[in-house]
Parts: sequence; structure tokens; C-alpha cells
Amino acid sequence: MKEAIPTTVVKEGLAEVEVPEPQAYAREGYFDPSWAPVFYNPRMVFSRDIAVLALQCSLTGGIRICEPLAGTGVRGIRFALEVDGVEEVILGDVNKLAVKLVLRNVRRNRVEDKVKVFEEEANRLLSDYSSPEDRFDAVDVDPFGPPTPFVDSAIRALRIGGVLCLTATDMAPLCGVYPMACFRKYFAKPLKTEYCSELAVRIVVGTAVREAAKRELALKPLLAYSVDHYVRIYGTLEKGAQETDALLAQIGYVVHCSSCLWRATFSGLAPRFEAACPRCGERLDVAGPLWLGKLADIELCKRMLEEAEKREYLQTRKRASKLLELLMEEGEMPPTYYVIDQLCRRLRCSPPPMEELVENLRGLGFKATRTHFDGKGLKTEAPIEVIEEVLKEISPSS
Ligand SMILES: C[S@@+](CC[C@H](N)C(=O)[O-])C[C@H]1O[C@@H](n2cnc3c(N)ncnc32)[C@H](O)[C@@H]1O
Ligand SMILES: [Zn+2]
Repeated sequence: MKEAIPTTVVKEGLAEVEVPEPQAYAREGYFDPSWAPVFYNPRMVFSRDIAVLALQCSLTGGIRICEPLAGTGVRGIRFALEVDGVEEVILGDVNKLAVKLVLRNVRRNRVEDKVKVFEEEANRLLSDYSSPEDRFDAVDVDPFGPPTPFVDSAIRALRIGGVLCLTATDMAPLCGVYPMACFRKYFAKPLKTEYCSELAVRIVVGTAVREAAKRELALKPLLAYSVDHYVRIYGTLEKGAQETDALLAQIGYVVHCSSCLWRATFSGLAPRFEAACPRCGERLDVAGPLWLGKLADIELCKRMLEEAEKREYLQTRKRASKLLELLMEEGEMPPTYYVIDQLCRRLRCSPPPMEELVENLRGLGFKATRTHFDGKGLKTEAPIEVIEEVLKEISPSS
């Protein structure tokens, strides 16, 4: 195997890392990070900025973190440099070239005292740390595609009160383009709808909650979102059958009518629901099992927002603040959202400003918010009939 690869040095957060030189691996002027022998995606800086904030705000003192799929090591090195109270970061990768680069990046950033690097398969590395006294305060699983092959090992290597962070980049299965792949990976049925990225997030959360549940561990969701064609979730581990059952009670199904856009949720493993839409009589589609509970801990978002304000060096600080503000608004709203343009197309009216629709619904006593999933998305408790009435009333062309 060739020992050295062409690299360039980039600054990200407080780290300076050597990454593969994009030009050397570009094809016809285009570069995909997966074409380089070691993976580094500059666009994921947003995910890493949020991760720094999330870990900073949910853990304190003597923090030990594992990132078993490290790539260039940028994420773990940033944890060592940017999260106060980090004592140790364990990084691993199966790719020899990646491990070499991580070692160089650790030296470059002078974090040798905190960061240890292993050329090891992720499940094996996590298993090495699964004894109670060795477990981590946080495990960040950031793979290619689905995180599911690593979730059980990550949970076993996490202490009670620790934080599990998962990335899923397999949006095509999760959004219903390849339903069988979603069934295999997540044991869930996806649905191609206007709100499929929310269903994707809820499928990943549901899977993680179930994986923890088999060990009588409650993985309480702290923060879950989807941007730029990936899902990212954070959850904290609690112990006990009762706590676990309380989470399982929030797993269920979303039932959707693609003809009139009516939808409903049903909790439980095998709940009963009608086959036909109560509004228009068409056949209903179903997605799940998935997480029906809240997607954000408002208090954590608040702390993260304050932390973001303090950290001017974060490249995506403004975007992070915006996401956190939206998550605080929508985090406790019920599942699914409506896309205002789609509603208006069906009503043959032109879309009013989102704020006006939200205000009107609130005026009628219904909770209503925007959503980070879609700039044209509306989350509300109001039934579709009410939304349509309001739209007809306030649309500029009606
Ligand atoms: C998406 S990249 C990681 C990116 C990195 N977390 C970041 O934030 O830049 C996934 C990495 O996982 C490694 N990998 C894939 N399968 C693995 C396995 N079973 N065990 C350990 N590493 C693995 C790949 O070599 C690759 O470097
Ligand atoms: Zn219907």
C-alpha cells in the first residue's frame, strides 16, 4: 500500500488538520469526499460544530469520549480542543491510511496527552471498552450510511448518563426510495411524503431506543434533526425497566393519506387503525415503527444557543443558532408537518407568508410553529380542515 497521500491543511473550529487534497482525487473538475483514500467532508463542519456544543452542554468534568469511525480524526481532535473538561478521546478506524493521518493530526494539534488512536474495527474497539469501569461519557458514531451496525456496541460502551451521538447518511432508504433497505437496517417502513426527512429522523431515533431497550436501558432523545441529506441524533442513557417502558410507549406509527393530506399517529407495537382515510375514503399509507415523542430538549437547546453565542470561532455559528432556535420552537410539537406550497396548490390559491399562517392558527387556539425540516413547513395541532379554511381566508389570491 502506498504510504503517503497528497494532502492539504485546513482549519476547522480550533483544529488545524491535514486532509486529502481534493484536486488530486477530483474527476472532471468534481470532487466527492468518498473518492479520496481517507474521508473528510468539509460540509460536515456544521455537524461537528453542533456536536461540540451538544457535548459541552450535556457533560461535565473528566469527560471520556469515543469516536470509533474517525476518518481524519477532525471530530475527535475538536472534542479534545473545544469541549471543556475532556480528559480522554479514543479514536479508531479500520483504514490504515486514515489512522496514519489521525496520528499526524493529533501531533499537529498537540493533543497527544488526551487522544489515543487505534487501527481497529469499530465494534471491536467499542467492545474493548464495554466493562462498567471503562465505559465512555459519549460515543459518537459517524459512519458512511446507516449507524445501525454499531448502535448496540456503542450503547454497551456508554455509561449511564452518557450521551450517544449517531449520524445516518442513508436518506434514500430512510425516505422511502429503497423501502426494503430501510426495513433491513431499521426494521421500519419508511414513507415517501413531503415530511419524509422528519420520518427519517423518527425512524433512526426509534431504532436507537429499541436497541437500548433490550438491555433495559432508556435512551432518552435529547436532540434530533435532519439537514443537508443526513440525520443526526443525540440521546442520553438511563437505567430501568419503567423508564424504558415509558420510552417504548412513545414508539408507534404515522398514518398518512396522500390524497387529502390527512394524517394521524398511533402508538404501540401493533395498534389498530382504519385502512381508509376518514376524510376522503382513500387508502391510507403507514410509516413505522418510529419515535413519536419530542425531538428536542428545550433546556439543552437553550444552553447550546448560549454556548454558540460565546464561540465566535465556530464557522457555522449563525446557522447553528438558527437551527437551535427552530428546534426550541418545534421540539415538543407533534409529528409531521404540512408544506404550505403543496397545500396552496391543492386549494388553487397563492401561499401567504408563513408567519401569517402561524399567527392565524395560534389566534384560533392551536399550537403552530415553523420547522427546521423545511422553510415552507408548518407544524400544528390544528386539523387539516382548519388549516385549509385559514389558508383560503388569508391567501393573497383568494
Ligand atoms: C464518514 S467517515 C468518518 C468521518 C469522521 N467521523 C468525521 O467527522 O470527519 C467513516 C469512517 O469509518 C471508517 N470505517 C468504515 N467501517 C468501519 C468499521 N467497521 N470500523 C472502523 N472504521 C470503519 C472509514 O474508514 C471512514 O474513515
Ligand atoms: Zn384522505
